[in-house]
Amino acid sequence: MSLPGSPHLARRDGVLGLDGVDLDGLARRFGTPLYVYSQAAMLDAVAAYQRALQGRAHLVCYAMKANSSLAVLQTFARAGCGFDIVSGGELERVLAAGGRPERIVFSGVGKTRTEMQQALAAGVHCFNVESEGELRRLSEVATAAGRTAPVSLRVNPDVDAGTHPYISTGLRDNKFGVAHEQALAVYRLAAALPGLQVVGIDCHIGSQITQAAPYLDALDRVLDLVEAVEAAGIPIHHVDLGGGLGITYTDEQPPRADELVAQMLARMDARGHGRREVLLEPGRSLVGNAGVLLTEVQYLKPGATKNFCIVDAAMNDLMRPAMYQAWMAIEPVRQRAGVARAWDVVGPVCESGDWLGRDRPLAVAEGDLLAVLSAGAYGMAMASNYNTRPRAAEVMIVDGQPVLIRERERAADLFAGETLLPAAG
Ligand code: LLP
Repeated sequence: MSLPGSPHLARRDGVLGLDGVDLDGLARRFGTPLYVYSQAAMLDAVAAYQRALQGRAHLVCYAMKANSSLAVLQTFARAGCGFDIVSGGELERVLAAGGRPERIVFSGVGKTRTEMQQALAAGVHCFNVESEGELRRLSEVATAAGRTAPVSLRVNPDVDAGTHPYISTGLRDNKFGVAHEQALAVYRLAAALPGLQVVGIDCHIGSQITQAAPYLDALDRVLDLVEAVEAAGIPIHHVDLGGGLGITYTDEQPPRADELVAQMLARMDARGHGRREVLLEPGRSLVGNAGVLLTEVQYLKPGATKNFCIVDAAMNDLMRPAMYQAWMAIEPVRQRAGVARAWDVVGPVCESGDWLGRDRPLAVAEGDLLAVLSAGAYGMAMASNYNTRPRAAEVMIVDGQPVLIRERERAADLFAGETLLPAAG
């Protein structure tokens, strides 16, 4: 069976390796659960976007919510990326990793005053504003700070990205963005408010999108608006088409990033927008296939109707299966002879929803290592400490060498900020 996702992942003498580094050796050295990433895979992924955008005014803003570990951010900052952030915390994190503030776009429906002040002080490239209320608040905050906030309006193009309802964001019923038909009026308001400077327009229609068509539909709707807004005398400097490009978890065949971008640019050229700056906010497609989660089989519990393979990673380490019924490939790190049977691969958390894969044909024994593939995006970034489980360690393969980029948390770290009540009086 070929491995979905990454050419960086391959078997040698039956053992799974990432960029030629055996994963069982890494699990022995660093313990499990363990996230392992290929830096080369991340760099390949971003290079595909950059290649297609060459010769244009552009900025690839990595949507850091997908994986916000410092070394990952540093990797993209060094590759010339900007960043798409959604919180003050992400801003602090990306600045700590060497991200440049003038390459940051600040998205999100619920920015607080404090976050606005923080981002203004840092000097971000743009606020991607999602409502009239936010626009008014940003104007107040900027005026009080004696600054001008660069703004883009996130418009909701009302196209169906054809993806899971929880990660589809461009439909009228979603909480995101300003409705297409109201956008012109909201741009007029933005242009009139003190403290704001209109610089762009943005949209983001969903995630794990595997077709080019919804992007091109959204682009057309956005360009219609650009033309209307500019006709009203408000210049739009950049067009930000968001992120959302899917990856291969099983048999999906999303367009390649360079092909998708080429199609979008061709559409822009055809409509006379060839000189406009283009921003993109890819997350998953830059990191998803670059990472795996390693876990050790603790117990096998065959049963009358179900066989359970209990591993040491759980929903707190990788939330996607529990939260979206996401299918992620699970491969033995070392292939073993024997008959495969169907296992539900589950974690130790006290919830029936704590599963990583269901009915997976595997030949396994206690102590074996399994790898959950395509786990580089929305894996560690969504990890929690439920059941007082310390979060996993992370290793990045850099130039063929493993580098520990995050230590395994200790239980004591988890309650370090808590206090006991005073002694009963
Ligand atoms: N820009 C905005 C405004 C977004 O909301 C998102 C993702 C992105 C960019 C990046 O999208 P990407 O290229 O990664 O698809 N936790 C879910 C995915 C949630 C995506 C939320 N927004 C999952 O594990 O599938």
